[in-house]
Amino acid sequence: MSVDLQSLEQEARAAIGAAADSRALDDVRVRYLGRKGALQDLMARIPTLPLEERRTFGAAVNGLKKILEEAIQERGRAFEAQGGGGKAFDVTLPGQQPFVGRRHPLMQVEQEICAIFGRLGFKVFRGPEVETEFHNFEALNIPLEHPSRDAFDTFYIESSDKTSHARRLLRSHTSPSQIRALKQCPPPMAVVVPGRVYRPDAVDASHSFMFHQVEGLAVDRDIRFSDLKGVLIAFAREMFGAKVRLRFRPSFFPFTEPSAEVDVSCFICGAEGCAVCKQTGWLEILGCGMVHPHVLRSAGVDPSVWRGFAFGMGVERITMLKVGIDDIRLFFENDLRLLEQF
Ligand code: PHE
Repeated sequence: MSVDLQSLEQEARAAIGAAADSRALDDVRVRYLGRKGALQDLMARIPTLPLEERRTFGAAVNGLKKILEEAIQERGRAFEAQGGGGKAFDVTLPGQQPFVGRRHPLMQVEQEICAIFGRLGFKVFRGPEVETEFHNFEALNIPLEHPSRDAFDTFYIESSDKTSHARRLLRSHTSPSQIRALKQCPPPMAVVVPGRVYRPDAVDASHSFMFHQVEGLAVDRDIRFSDLKGVLIAFAREMFGAKVRLRFRPSFFPFTEPSAEVDVSCFICGAEGCAVCKQTGWLEILGCGMVHPHVLRSAGVDPSVWRGFAFGMGVERITMLKVGIDDIRLFFENDLRLLEQF
């Protein structure tokens, strides 16, 4: 019997050595170690042996199995080290183009906006997208009868508790974060709040049920409208070019007084008049104003000591103007042909 095993070992070792590639090696493995292989045959013979031989023979077959397994593994590693299981590697083939990811254009612009305000001393603050009715409306001096509080203009989250501190909604603007920022960072303070906002608008080329805003808030002892103008002009020059001018039009927001809407001179046509600025030479980019005393009080800040300015801008709108995209839906379709251009 032991002679049998020795010659089997020699034969198997020769076959392993002769295998030209990993496929041939696998055939050898099946032939000797597979379920119908030579070693399994020997194992099957054990019960037919006289009792006293069974133990030593079994151990010898197992020993051989280990030896062959190791020899096959070693040969396999040698093929791997050569690369491609022993097949030649054609170094002249064109390589696979690695796929390089990048930030979404909206996030690039959001980051740029925050970076510009960062250099002006504003810290980035983030508030929740699921807000309370109190933060989104009441604290901001938006009364119960205001149309934006209608269920057609705001996504409410169902709840049995109808009090404004308990009732939740998807924030319809980033302004509720003014309250949270003021509570968390007592004045003097200056923050920008980037983030998503939600409105149940029918989706078309200029409306989406979700979009992005960047809110700004600065509160100090002696803040004036001229500070607001200076900060926004510095921002616009960095964002749109050194030559742009700003136009402040009187407007109304419940949470700022006075309030203004701000236009930037059309940087596409140099204010000559074009399709983008609809021949007016101006592009509306944001709303702003001096923080209403009601807002400061809602956040526990004394309006007789502190005052501030606030502004809010839409990231989609600014991105569309900057890169010449005329349909907001393109941002959310995830078409790489568009996204790869930025
Ligand atoms: N929250 C306002 C909007 O969504 C923008 C705004 C922010 C206006 C801050 C004034 C001050 O339209």
